[in-house]
Amino acid sequence: MRIEDSVAFVRNPDAVDLPGMIPVKFDVTDPAAVSAAARRCSDVTLLINNAGIGRVDASALDPAVIDNAREFFETNFYGIIRASQAFAPVLSRNGGGAIVNVLSDVTWFAPMLTAYAATKSAAWSFTNALRIDVRDRGIQVLALHVGFVDTALTRGLDVQKSDPQQVAARTLDALEQGQEEVRADEQTEALKRSLSTEQPCYLNPPVGMRAS
Ligand SMILES: NC(=O)c1ccc[n+]([C@@H]2O[C@H](COP(=O)([O-])OP(=O)(O)OC[C@H]3O[C@@H](n4cnc5c(N)ncnc54)[C@H](OP(=O)(O)O)[C@@H]3O)[C@@H](O)[C@H]2O)c1
Repeated sequence: MRIEDSVAFVRNPDAVDLPGMIPVKFDVTDPAAVSAAARRCSDVTLLINNAGIGRVDASALDPAVIDNAREFFETNFYGIIRASQAFAPVLSRNGGGAIVNVLSDVTWFAPMLTAYAATKSAAWSFTNALRIDVRDRGIQVLALHVGFVDTALTRGLDVQKSDPQQVAARTLDALEQGQEEVRADEQTEALKRSLSTEQPCYLNPPVGMRAS
């Protein structure tokens, strides 16, 4: 994928400073903006649902969890549905293509991130339904699961983080190989392996896997 062929759907197009990248104003929580973007960008063959928001919750008993969940779901869950539904016909008309949904390792466990993790589990479920329902249109649906990545979202979190470029490279490799799920770091691989064991990660996450 060359950057010259790419559109950045962003809330603030003036903030995009990547030569060759075409910024298009877009807010994933705004149904009219999403529909307009799909009408305008009728040659899209790869949709990356990357928009996401989140914050640490003090605990699952934190009263803020409900309001946080309502806020995060609008972007992290309904946003993915909205964009996928708007762009699936575009991809289909262009011969298939692919949708990449940026999920997380917290799909499978949730220490300190109760509300955010719930949105990613829900988005995983939607991704799995979507994959089956668009397969006959030739659309590949790739779920990206990854632990902490060194971006603005994790600024101030004192945890080990992956390099965003490495995560992107692994994702594009998986896409090229026709895969349907990519686990972009070792910890996420270990989490996924644990799911079929007697001690899956969500029962007792190792200390090293918790946000601090
Ligand atoms: N960083 C991590 O540790 C980590 C780990 C696993 C998964 N993820 C996921 O990776 C994705 C990217 O996050 P990031 O780490 O790169 O965080 P980030 O630096 O905070 O970037 C989030 C992006 O989402 C955009 N966005 C938020 N709300 C939006 C909306 N309503 N409409 C359109 N765009 C919106 C933001 O746009 P603005 O610039 O306009 O705010 C920003 O470009 C998210 O889905 C996140 O959940 C991150």
